[in-house]
Amino acid sequence: MNIDGRAWRTIWLEEGGRSVGVIDQTLLPHRFSTRSLTTLDQAAEAIATMVVRGAPLIGVTGAYGLMLALQVDPGDASLAAAFEQLNATRPTAINLCWALERVRDRVLPLPPSERATAAAAAAAAIAEDDVAMCSAIGDHGLALLQRLAAERPPERQHEPLNVLTHCNAGWLATVDWGTALAPIYKAHRAGLAIHVWVDETRPRNQGASLTAFELGREGVPHTVIVDNAGGHLMQHGRVDAVIVGTDRTTRTGDVCNKIGTYLKALAAHDNGVPFYVALPASTIDWTLADGVAEIPIEARSPGEVTQIQGLALAGAAAADLVTVQLPPRGSAGFNPAFDVTPARLVTALITERGVAPASEAGLRGLYGLEATCSEPSPAAKVDQ
Ligand code: MRU
Repeated sequence: MNIDGRAWRTIWLEEGGRSVGVIDQTLLPHRFSTRSLTTLDQAAEAIATMVVRGAPLIGVTGAYGLMLALQVDPGDASLAAAFEQLNATRPTAINLCWALERVRDRVLPLPPSERATAAAAAAAAIAEDDVAMCSAIGDHGLALLQRLAAERPPERQHEPLNVLTHCNAGWLATVDWGTALAPIYKAHRAGLAIHVWVDETRPRNQGASLTAFELGREGVPHTVIVDNAGGHLMQHGRVDAVIVGTDRTTRTGDVCNKIGTYLKALAAHDNGVPFYVALPASTIDWTLADGVAEIPIEARSPGEVTQIQGLALAGAAAADLVTVQLPPRGSAGFNPAFDVTPARLVTALITERGVAPASEAGLRGLYGLEATCSEPSPAAKVDQ
């Protein structure tokens, strides 16, 4: 997608494949800066500290992290250790394990001398597949948005279609296009008048910082709202649909996404607003049936709750990125990063294979009997 007229992806190979370039998402929207990852440790750190984030993108970064490890030591022990290190960085998004397994299973049967090259090809294929899947999600979602727009009463036909989204499930969360935002980009490019309500998404503000940045650079009309405003807007008929992404989807259609998604689904249900979840196949965990009971929820630092980063507007620090303290020093913070929205609150899933009910029958209808991913590493930090 575009930044100031130049097309970007979130991740790319540099230096003949010995280095991986990424956009440093911790500095957006106020600073645009790229980073080069040249070692396994740097790749793992970039995922853990959210230099890169978003379920599909951390999967692709993990895949390239395995490549970087194998360039140094292509042996079995190195491969297993790198797999464990990367898989432990973020426990909720299943795409990470999915991508790591895809690379490992491709390289393990090969002689060590061939593994790094094969890992590079496998990681690149995962990245290309991600772009294709997200583009297809966009196409299916576009048809759905066009239908929603056409079905509005005649007196509302002149208004833009109002879509609410939570967190960032745009191109910055994937390799390109995004999941939840792909239908919005395709609708905007197709000439459908659309306006996006952007939840700021505390604590890390991926909505206010990343979604607003993306939409602005693509010229999509949008308005940032506090996380608690969505229900009010729905009560007053100002939201036509909600579209969010997911970090892990059970085979029964429960979806786990950024903390606060569940509350949006409840409000949408109460107000008869359709609630859609956009996802590629790499987000489905076919081993799980009960999202609330079974999906590990990442616990992040309380400091993300008690502090906030932004651009200083005045004083000696003007134009600097500064971090400020919110509650009194000494007040505890608790920071579960994701929550689960049960399938019964999801109107439909928008996938690269089409739109389906959020149910096992719906997913099986699209995917049949797909292979499944291993359990996440027990080392991963979870909120019990
Ligand atoms: O903690 P983050 O920023 O990695 O969380 C991202 C989300 O919750 C996205 O909505 C999700 O990964 C789906 S992205 C296509």
